[in-house]
Amino acid sequence: MLNADRTDPATLREAIATELLAARDRTAGLTDCVEDHDLTAQHSPLMSPLVWDLAHIGNQEELWLLRNVGGHDPMHPEIDPLYDAFEHPRAERPSLPLLPPDEARRYAHEVRGRVLDLLEASPLEGAPLLDAGFAFGMIAQHEQQHDETMLITHQLRQGAAVLAAPPPPAVPADRLPAEVLVPAGPFTMGTDTEPWALDNERPAHRVELPAYWLDTVPVTNAAYLAFVEDGGYREPRWWTPAGWEHRAQAGLTAPLFWSRDGGQWLRRRFGTVEPVPPDEPVLHVSWYEADAYARWAGRRLPTEAEWEKAARFDPASGRSRRYPWGDEPPAAEHANLGQRHLQPAPAGSYPEGTAPCGARQLIGDVWEWTASDFLPYPGFAPWPYKEYSEVFFGPEYKVLRGGSFAVAPVACRGTFRNWDYPVRRQIFAGFRTARSADAASGTEGA
Ligand SMILES: [Fe+2]
Repeated sequence: MLNADRTDPATLREAIATELLAARDRTAGLTDCVEDHDLTAQHSPLMSPLVWDLAHIGNQEELWLLRNVGGHDPMHPEIDPLYDAFEHPRAERPSLPLLPPDEARRYAHEVRGRVLDLLEASPLEGAPLLDAGFAFGMIAQHEQQHDETMLITHQLRQGAAVLAAPPPPAVPADRLPAEVLVPAGPFTMGTDTEPWALDNERPAHRVELPAYWLDTVPVTNAAYLAFVEDGGYREPRWWTPAGWEHRAQAGLTAPLFWSRDGGQWLRRRFGTVEPVPPDEPVLHVSWYEADAYARWAGRRLPTEAEWEKAARFDPASGRSRRYPWGDEPPAAEHANLGQRHLQPAPAGSYPEGTAPCGARQLIGDVWEWTASDFLPYPGFAPWPYKEYSEVFFGPEYKVLRGGSFAVAPVACRGTFRNWDYPVRRQIFAGFRTARSADAASGTEGA
């Protein structure tokens, strides 16, 4: 994982190679565990066949590193259009003449061999794509993001479990307050210095916020179940008009992958059906459901700025940290990241990842829906291409923060922004709630 102060080219080369290797190991783990017919099948119209992701990873790596950075000629120009995400929506991809699994693997492997040679020879400075190894870092993040996408495909896939991982560590016994106060004041949002930050995280800018209270931990299954059992899905008053219309039309009655068996709620998780664990953060809820829960609870979703201030602002120094716990890269004791576990850790886990405000699990476990639309920061400039973020800005996408158990440390930081449609439920998303501090009633100082 790249440190902001890692400038020595040999160390940087080694860090890049480690990240590329880690991503490829994970890709192999997600694609070698199923038969070829599972790789070429479409497990949900929302997802690509796994074999598409596999060759698309290699194709983007070839495009950005071998062609744009290295100046190489295209290896197989005829396949480029097949793996252009903007040319073919996911539902269309199974009908394309995609590379079969063996050829897709061979292609990605061949690209990687040439990339490692290029890395060895690269000065890693002197051009914007090269500075601090940016293009290499972007490609390592891209592969890890597709690995998360492929893990979602695994979750949607029917059939017996093929993935395994140990459960998260036991939750510490300390008693936490239900919510933490973030006092009023300015903080620095976004970044100018994070070397592998993407365009939408830039530039750093000052944001002034009134005081607010934020849930110490993400909303748990038990808390969410109280909303379900209180008739939350039958009461239009908790929902926005668009949310209610969607709820009715999609027939939503509980989080995705939940089912009721007599008096018990069960969930399906990577091919295993098990009782819903009460103390885990709720997962697989849409923005509409998160928003309705918050209203039912007498609260609201935090804005994106509120989320980031809670995660990064250190009142002692007045500066914004890279992560809630400080500037050092995520380690196993800080956060549930990198698919080390195939589920979120119980609420209250990872005391060593606590933010200065006292909130836990802001990074890792579940993506957290925020109240905010996906919009550019003041002074935004598209980089290195318009389609990375700019074409998605607007009110149709909501911002998610923090990263899930499926997100790799290289693709996760306090400034990282994810976005999706408010109806999406297959992603590894949950939420926490907030409320504005009412200075008049004295709760701000409580
Ligand atoms: Fe992609």
